[in-house]
Amino acid sequence: MPILESRSLRLYADSLEYLDQTRLPQAEQWERCDSPEAWQLAVKRLAIRGAPLIGLSAAFVLAQYAARHPGQEDKWQWVSDRLRATRPTAVNLMYCLDALEACFAQGPAALAGRAAALFEEDRELCQRMAERGADLLVEGERVLTHCNTGALATAGVGTAIGALAVARKRGMTLHVYVNETRPLLQGGRLTAWEMADLDIPYQLIADSMAASLMAAGKVDKVMVGADRICANGDFANKVGTYMLAVVARYHQVPFYVVAPYTTVDPACATGDDIPIEQRDAAEIRGATGAFGDIVWAPENAPVWNPSFDVTPASLVTGWVLDTGVFDAAAIARGEHCR
Ligand code: MRU
Repeated sequence: MPILESRSLRLYADSLEYLDQTRLPQAEQWERCDSPEAWQLAVKRLAIRGAPLIGLSAAFVLAQYAARHPGQEDKWQWVSDRLRATRPTAVNLMYCLDALEACFAQGPAALAGRAAALFEEDRELCQRMAERGADLLVEGERVLTHCNTGALATAGVGTAIGALAVARKRGMTLHVYVNETRPLLQGGRLTAWEMADLDIPYQLIADSMAASLMAAGKVDKVMVGADRICANGDFANKVGTYMLAVVARYHQVPFYVVAPYTTVDPACATGDDIPIEQRDAAEIRGATGAFGDIVWAPENAPVWNPSFDVTPASLVTGWVLDTGVFDAAAIARGEHCR
């Protein structure tokens, strides 16, 4: 029996298992994650992904490493530094590793306890922000979302998808448009799967269809997650989010970002300070998946492949955090950073 369990993580006394998100929706395959190296590989290939989940899984891996190497704090620090560098954009990873590093002096049991507490905390944060997000939704609304922000990406109900899940649980009828989210299709593969799981009616669209969908008057709200929210309210999220925000503003569709306080980085003054991960050219030249590899571009086609983009605060209607729903004036006063 796992000690702790979520939709995509299982913690046992001496090991960690993750649901390999690259295999979904074709297969629900659980893998053992036994070392920092195994975690790095899983995170690099997005088998473990989503801002909160990356941080929580890193905390468990570091705690287990410390338990296997007692009294070797210099090694723990070395491992923590390696984990930290694996995906640089989602600040939840830094939040979780900072929390564990603060326990180094108290020994491995303290690290394990802290990691478990972070997991429980995320579950509660998800519920709180999801309730606040659901309060913004109106019966019958049509909501467009991007990437995957649900139970797969967190320890709880999720962030933006969490709001949809809570609204559905309250008995609300919604229709969700799911951006497929090129290049790695977290929307088409994961969000579509979660919508079916949550019994929420949805339609999958290619990212390039969002503008004409809004022009046709078919979108009432956009709700997305975030990987890092700056002091001025700019935020990084899966590439394509910025384009969605621009198009939403043009069509006067309210645009909300839903995230826990652990995604807020007061040390980042503006979006210019957020490190943006660049990924492999192969993700753009073709696709890798459960059915094999396909390449459609010329073999050496030059590629630009940022994994995230930055949406300026000026395009955001509201920031939905576990601590409250903030408008532009509250963000300008720094209320989300407290
Ligand atoms: O590259 P990914 O799949 O880890 O990117 C995920 C996103 O951008 C999510 O929108 C973000 O992490 C918020 S999820 C709760």
